[in-house]
Amino acid sequence: MRVLSGTQPSGELHIGNYFGALRQYLALQEKHSEVLYFIADYHSMTSVRDAKLRTKLCRGVALDYLACGLDPKRAILYRQSDLPEVCELAWILSTVTPMGLLERCVSYKDKIEQGIAADHGLFAYPVLMAADILIFNAGLVPVGKDQKQHLEVTRDIAQRFNHAYDEVFVLPEPYILDDVAIVPGTDGRKMSKSYANTIPMFGAPGAIKKAVMEIVTDSTPVEGSKSTDTSLFQLWSLFATAEERREMFARAQAGGLGYGEVKKDLLARLMDYFASMRARREDWEKRPSDLEDVLRDGAKRARAVAAPILEKAREASGLGVSRETILR
Ligand code: ADP
Ligand code: TRP
Repeated sequence: MRVLSGTQPSGELHIGNYFGALRQYLALQEKHSEVLYFIADYHSMTSVRDAKLRTKLCRGVALDYLACGLDPKRAILYRQSDLPEVCELAWILSTVTPMGLLERCVSYKDKIEQGIAADHGLFAYPVLMAADILIFNAGLVPVGKDQKQHLEVTRDIAQRFNHAYDEVFVLPEPYILDDVAIVPGTDGRKMSKSYANTIPMFGAPGAIKKAVMEIVTDSTPVEGSKSTDTSLFQLWSLFATAEERREMFARAQAGGLGYGEVKKDLLARLMDYFASMRARREDWEKRPSDLEDVLRDGAKRARAVAAPILEKAREASGLGVSRETILR
């Protein structure tokens, strides 16, 4: 089964992204023979308008994937804009996409509410996402719950194309990370870069320490019995075994455990947990041309998979021979 997923380069990765998404995505690398992960830089154009920042964030996502264990020999890692054919397919697909289908997408409305400009790219973004997936006829697409609707749109668009022309596209199966626990942020809400309540995975140690120390707690004194149903204990639990959790929770309920101690322990565990990934990231960071080679090689391999599928779609819809054939 061909597995594909993409990440927008729109900010620093936080531990919610890791436990909620990245870790699960990378586990699929072990189970499936063909896995593609891409950095959705075309998509980021709907929200990031700073060219230098996009280039930097794009490199950052590539480094994050490699740091977290993406093996470029097994999985294909590529930058979306190195495969400009997706834009061609997006156009073809847009001509079989009813306006109503896009008008129903909640992410568009959500983003407008967040203050993002209501331009055509933002509105049409689910069509580009459909092209990202269908250009490989990917069978399985791991995404968070927020992207579920876009996968339904992709299936709908694929069906409409197949019905209008020929059976070119496979309907992708979503792999929705529904039962993954939501990682709370330092203020108790869901950890999210839009709430400025994150603990960055690979941030400067000082910034991580600051975020951990800022986790909101109540004013129960050290001697008092404490509820463990709080973001501090939930975050701490991410880095503890079941046995350690039982012990810590018993101490919290009994009283005599200070929040400061839990925060310090959380910080130590967190730094330890991500230490080898951080080292791997630093190593790749020192070798920018090797990183570029990985992305180029990824794009080449991705292109080889995509080209015949796009060709089939062009043929089915009666378009002329492709540029590649003309140039040959
Ligand atoms: P953010 O909310 O910070 O903008 P994104 O929407 O870019 O994060 O997240 C990418 C993916 O990471 C989501 O689809 C979701 O699966 C996962 N994710 C984000 N925040 C959390 C969280 N707090 N807990 C669990 N998973 C999360
Ligand atoms: N839209 C996704 C997000 O914002 C990223 C994405 C773009 C994607 N194209 C994709 C995910 C194709 C999976 C498959 O998180």
